[in-house]
Amino acid sequence: MRTLSKEILNDISSIYGDSFYILDSDVFENNYQALTSAFTKYYPNFNIAYSYKTNYVPKLVKIVDRLGGYAEVVSDMEMQTALKAGVPYERIIWNGPVKNKENLKSFLLQGGTANVDSPAEFEYIKEIATNNLDKELNIGIRCNYEVGDGVLSRFGVDIDSEDFDYILSEIKVIHNINLIGLQAHFAKRSPEYWTKRTEGMFRAYKHVREKYGFKVKRLDIGGGIYGDMPETLRTQLKVEKTCFEDYAVRSAKLFAEYFNDIEDAPTLLVEPGTAIAADSMRYVCRVETIKTVRGKTIASANGSQKNISLSGLNPPMEVIVGGDKQETYEDVDIAGYTCIESDYIYKGYSGKLGIGDYLVYSNCGSYSLVMKPPFIFTNVPVLDISKDEVEVIKRAETFEDLFTTYTF
Ligand SMILES: Cc1ncc(COP(=O)(O)O)c(C=O)c1O
Repeated sequence: MRTLSKEILNDISSIYGDSFYILDSDVFENNYQALTSAFTKYYPNFNIAYSYKTNYVPKLVKIVDRLGGYAEVVSDMEMQTALKAGVPYERIIWNGPVKNKENLKSFLLQGGTANVDSPAEFEYIKEIATNNLDKELNIGIRCNYEVGDGVLSRFGVDIDSEDFDYILSEIKVIHNINLIGLQAHFAKRSPEYWTKRTEGMFRAYKHVREKYGFKVKRLDIGGGIYGDMPETLRTQLKVEKTCFEDYAVRSAKLFAEYFNDIEDAPTLLVEPGTAIAADSMRYVCRVETIKTVRGKTIASANGSQKNISLSGLNPPMEVIVGGDKQETYEDVDIAGYTCIESDYIYKGYSGKLGIGDYLVYSNCGSYSLVMKPPFIFTNVPVLDISKDEVEVIKRAETFEDLFTTYTF
């Protein structure tokens, strides 16, 4: 990760403005490779289906495609992003509880894989299959089972239910539907739930193989993996220090044992987002004002909590001199540009600070850019600085970009 100096930031700021995201695509690529190595060490038949929703900048999704990974999308918007980035239909997996019907039909007819989330969705897929007997449709089933994380997930089909057996028995008699995968995802990122995640998937696999004779090609156990995180963030999130090995040992290692003597052993897929994207992006803004209100020192920045989608936490922040003069402060709350009272991007800062200083927030690559609402300000550019030149990944949004859909 490149160190950001006052000189680098001044150069960037003079061209691109006071606030921007800094992407380091090499960090993303290294994370991808590190995660792959941790899992293939135990089970070589492994691949990544990158979670587009986490951060769908084309530069990143193209890296995934170049490295041979799949695109894991949850909307036609993301599916179109994958296609536009050059990902073939066969490498796209479409998850999610609500899929646009027309787009789902064309996606399946062109060779994409959709994971069925409910019996009603299966009925629609059945209709597509019976109306297109000359085409083979590839589907997976999102599996829902207990992993001991205290959450009753609303996604997928309960593998112990009649719904699961109904869908499987229907696939058995519809000859142009191929069940090529089983998939699951659980949001809690602690490795402690991963053994149950894996065992639940084995149970689903065994059921579809023994009762229905399906030899699925892919077992996808989802995302929910922590990546590298600064200590300050980890203590606030109250999470143990983890590494990719902690997840691999509870999944890939068990896969190697389970499929040791099984012919046609399936590919193990995981769907990381955060694990590979989070520390690949930083967010930069500058201090606009510093004032004291009823005894409390408040600085205002031209960036917002909305840019990093973190609330109630102090993100890892570095202050880099950018103005003419700094003073030493105690317990400053740094507020965002919105008119929301609670929009603070850092609370309780003590140290040197001045108007014009750069505030650099690290670990801003997951669910940040994609969740920034068009509230008060349009969004800022994304710049890749992994090479010597600054590469514009996304230009700053304009009034026209946002208001073109409104009728004046
Ligand atoms: C189906 C699915 N896969 C993968 C992910 C990525 O999760 P994470 O960013 O925790 O790796 C998500 C996140 O919501 C998801 O819903």
